[in-house]
This record gives sequence, structure tokens and C-alpha cells, in this order.
Amino acid sequence: TDLALIRNFSIIAHIDHGKSTLADRLIQRTGGLTEREMSAQVLDNMDIEKERGITIKAQTVRLNYTAKDGLTYELNLMDTPGHVDFAYEVSRSLAACEGALLVVDAAQGVEAQTLANVYQSIEHDHEIVPVINKIDLPAAEPEKVRTEIEDIIGIDASDAVMASAKSGIGIDEVLEAIVTKIPPPKGERDQPLKAMLVDSWYDPYLGVVILVRVIDGVIKKGLQVKFMQGGTEHLIDRVGAFTPKRVDLPELGPGEIGFITAQIKEVEQAKVGDTVTTVKNGATQALPGYKEVQPVVFCGLFPVDANDFEKLRESIGKLRLNDASFSFEMESSAALGFGFRCGFLGLLHLEIIQERLSREYDLDLITTAPSVVYRLSMTDGTIKELHNPADMPDPVKIAEMEEPWIKATIYTPDEYLGSILKLCQDRRGIQIDLTYIGGRAQVTYELPLNEVVFDFYDRLKSISRGYASFDYEQIGLREGDLVMMNILVNNEPVDALSMIVHRSQAEARGRGLVERLKELIPRHMFKVPIQAAIGAKVIARETISAMRKDVTAKCYGGDISRKKKLLDKQKEGKKRMREYGNVSIPQEAFIAALRMG
Ligand code: GTP
Repeated sequence: TDLALIRNFSIIAHIDHGKSTLADRLIQRTGGLTEREMSAQVLDNMDIEKERGITIKAQTVRLNYTAKDGLTYELNLMDTPGHVDFAYEVSRSLAACEGALLVVDAAQGVEAQTLANVYQSIEHDHEIVPVINKIDLPAAEPEKVRTEIEDIIGIDASDAVMASAKSGIGIDEVLEAIVTKIPPPKGERDQPLKAMLVDSWYDPYLGVVILVRVIDGVIKKGLQVKFMQGGTEHLIDRVGAFTPKRVDLPELGPGEIGFITAQIKEVEQAKVGDTVTTVKNGATQALPGYKEVQPVVFCGLFPVDANDFEKLRESIGKLRLNDASFSFEMESSAALGFGFRCGFLGLLHLEIIQERLSREYDLDLITTAPSVVYRLSMTDGTIKELHNPADMPDPVKIAEMEEPWIKATIYTPDEYLGSILKLCQDRRGIQIDLTYIGGRAQVTYELPLNEVVFDFYDRLKSISRGYASFDYEQIGLREGDLVMMNILVNNEPVDALSMIVHRSQAEARGRGLVERLKELIPRHMFKVPIQAAIGAKVIARETISAMRKDVTAKCYGGDISRKKKLLDKQKEGKKRMREYGNVSIPQEAFIAALRMG
């Protein structure tokens, strides 16, 4: 395709402002799918994505649109993941586009979260086309929103498109704006091939499918290519695009986005950000911006029922086929038996994997406290990386302990700023910057990652009623006064709840944990002490008093069937429990206990 006829763009929108609905309309208007095929929102194609309203894997659709100028354009709409855990994938998707539609709800106006995404898009030199959506709503105030876009974001919104994705108003205008405002890509057909690997996923029929944006040169079937960062060579056996149905194409030229397959078995071999070139007469310099993504949060996943171990191994293996950023290795624990130590890009990534294991593979799991990777300098001069609190060596042998820090940028409406500053302060944060843009504040903090992995994001969302947005980058290791805190139930350590904490936080966190566990662990026939301890020193303690009567005592008389029902119910409950020092701890307690109040 002639470069002048290509437009590559993404859609930026706050949750619920209508991104998926608009994308569906664009697909429908350009004839990619029939009415019937449209029934499900096509871009969000995973259940979990749909339920949580977040996009996990980038998806791209190619639309053919005949514009008012009589020419037929190739529009590549790229959907991007919307969460900080996947920030690197987002940056690569954005690097593959020249522009973005900024969808703003005409009744809600610009919301803080949108800002981070818009700025990221501006950083990639994107042309931003504002679309004011939901103008059909009685509460719509499009003119006010237009001014807001100009004042808060600082872009010209005088010719913002007025649209209602739901009622199909303004869809042609959106398509025209894409064609007239977003610049075509640049590239040279005669140069050596350079294509950026934007995304990859596993397809049971095709093997690994790779989404690429061709920068220079041409990619076609039968070409022997190499991945410049990964260092592997492959024979291209298929080239195509999604409309959103998969179609095979003879080639992808400069500026085009599409997919390739090359009989690759593992996504690990197709790393996001890599450069694809030809083996013969290939490019000598890889594209800028490549980064190897590393898991930053680790936790143990154990089957509640030890007999499920093999099933867990198989299921984790299958998930991993599609997600190279997630790592796992076998682990055994005195109390939990066999399981896996898994690494994730962040907490949301962890939750998604955990949810898929329980939902798609029907596994009951115990998740141990998430932990970051610490670096230990030992007194004997060696260096250790600690992924698991259970492997913590004797503290007298540790000369220095370092923990990862991040730089966090938070955007929030003014009114929540006070509580947000307090939250950051409570998490050992160091304030770096605070600025105001319109009625919103942008605050930058340096924070220890270990204070963020527990529930920082959830807390931030809850104190700002969902309005604050959060973005972070890692800034390296710093020394910290860190200690290992154990939780003892009936005097026996519960290894799944052991964690490494900063000494200054240990007492508060220990107290919170034991108080929570007191609520979560059912009463037993005997008194159950719950303690938090550093070494031999107990820093917090609660006691669950003994149960007075047997549950069946409630069933007076000879109502045997009722009694049996009650006992069965109890048994069922037991199945999902774990025994520690003769105390049964329900599965939910492990996760719930870690959610600090
Ligand atoms: P996430 O996928 O959660 O990020 O949301 P989204 O931005 O993709 O929003 P989505 O398209 O799912 O729309 C959110 C809600 O707004 C849905 O209930 C839509 O039906 C509704 N909606 C979208 N566009 C319009 C519109 O133009 N007018 C009205 N009245 N409702 C709309």
C-alpha cells in the first residue's frame, strides 16, 4: 500500500468513556464484520478483560475506508493495554502509531487517568484527535468538555468531533478526522527490512503469532529473517492482518501493521520491542527502545489440594505459552507442600494469572505474600538475590540489604491530594515534585517497591474514588533496614504469610495482619494465639477464644438429617482449609490477610 494511504492510530479513553463501543462502530462502518458478528464487543476478547474492563493483550484491526476524497485508506487501529503493569507493551504499541483518538465522555469530562495516557501519546509525537462522545446523553455538556480538553490537556479542541458511539452519530466524521489529521507513516521500501515486534501470542493452530509494524523494507512469505535482539533466525510462512478476521496477505510494506508467523513454538522467542530484519542484506542497527522485561513481584502458588499439583503444573505451563513476562519454578514449603514460585510484572498481572488459573483451570490455590527481589551483600563477600522470604538467611550473616525503589507519578483531582500525600508518606515515600494543571495535581514520589506491591494501587483508587491515576518506573536499589516478619498461629509459623518488611513498618503491619487473621480464622475447641514476630521477638499478638459448644448442639432433638447436613457443610469447608499447628485456616484468609486496611 502507498504510504500516503496508511493511517496508524490508537484510542485513548478513560474507563467507560466509550472506547470499545467506538472501536466496534468503526469496524462496523468500514464493513469488517456483519451485524451478527458484531454482537460481542470484538476488541476485548478475553473474559477477564471484559469483566475488569481492561485490555491485557494489544489487538490490532485493519479497516479499509473510502474517504470523501474518493481514495481508499488502510486504517490500522491498535488497542493498547491500559495498566501500569504493562507499561512497556503500551510504549511499543504507541511507537507503532502516528496518532491517537482521545475519547472523552461529554457528561463526565476529562478524567485524571486519561492525562497520563495522553501525555504518553504526546511524548511519542502523536497527532491527537479529540472525540467528544455520548453527546446523546441528557447530561452531556460538549462545549464545557471542549474547553476542559483545551485547558487541562492543552491541545486544540476547536474541531473536536461530536459523537455518540452508541447511537452511531459522528462516526463518519471520526473516520474523516483520522484520514485528514493523523499523518501517514514514513518509511523506505528499498531500504533493508526493519520491522518492530509489537506483540506476540500463542495460537493453537498457527503457533506463535507476531504483530509487527514495518518501518523500512518489505516482509513476505518465504523470507529468512532474524530477530536482532533475540538472535534467532526464522522462515516466514505467513503474512497477514486482522480485519478483525484473519486474512492472509502477500506482503507488509513500510508503514504497515500486520502479523507474521514463522513456526515459532514459544512466545519467549518473540520479544516485544525486538527488530525483525532479513538474514541476507539485513539492517545493521536495531530499532531504539528495546527493553527486556523482568518480573518484579514474586509469590508462591500452591494447590489447596495436594493432588492438584500436576494439574497446576500443566495449567501454569499453558498460561506461560501466551505470556513470556511471567516466570515460574517449582518450590516446596514445609506447610504448603509442592507448588510454584512465580514472577509477575506487577500485582494486577499476578491477579490476572491467579484468576485465570482458578477460573479457566478450576484450581483452588493458596497465594503466598507477594515479595519483591532483594539484594543481599553477605558478610563473606558474596551477593544473593532473594525472591522468597522463606530463603532469608540468618540476619547475622547479612552485611547489607537493598530493596528496589520506584519513581511514581500520580495525577489526581485536588480534593484527594491530602489523603494521597498521606498514603505516600505512610509508605516511606519521598516527595520529589508537586504541580497543578487546572484543578488537578500531579505529584511525583520515590517509593520502595515493597510498599507498593501489597495494596497501594487499591488504596489509591479507593481514597480517590477511582479518579487518581498512577504510573511508575523503576529507579534502582537502595539500602534499607529490612527484617523478616513471621506469623505464628498456635505457635507454629505460617510460611505463606512470612514477609520482609522495613523495621519501621513491622509493628503496624504485624498488628494489622494478626487482627485480620483473628477475624478470618474460625474458632476452634481450644484457644488459638496468633502472633507476629521478628526472630524470637513477638511484636503483635491476638487470641481467638475457644468455641463453647459443638455446632451440632444447635440441632436439638433427633433431627438427624439436619445434623448430617451441617456436618457435611463443615466437611466442605474443611476441604478449602489448611492445617497449621492443628488450626484450620480457610483459603480466603491467606489473600484477605494480605490486603491491609
Ligand atoms: P472500558 O473497556 O471499560 O475501558 O470502557 P470503554 O471506554 O471501552 O467503554 P465502553 O465502550 O465499554 O462503554 C462504556 C459504557 O458507555 C457502555 O455501557 C456503553 O454502552 C456506553 N456508551 C458508549 N458510547 C456511548 C454513547 O455514545 N452514548 C451513550 N449514551 N452511552 C455510550
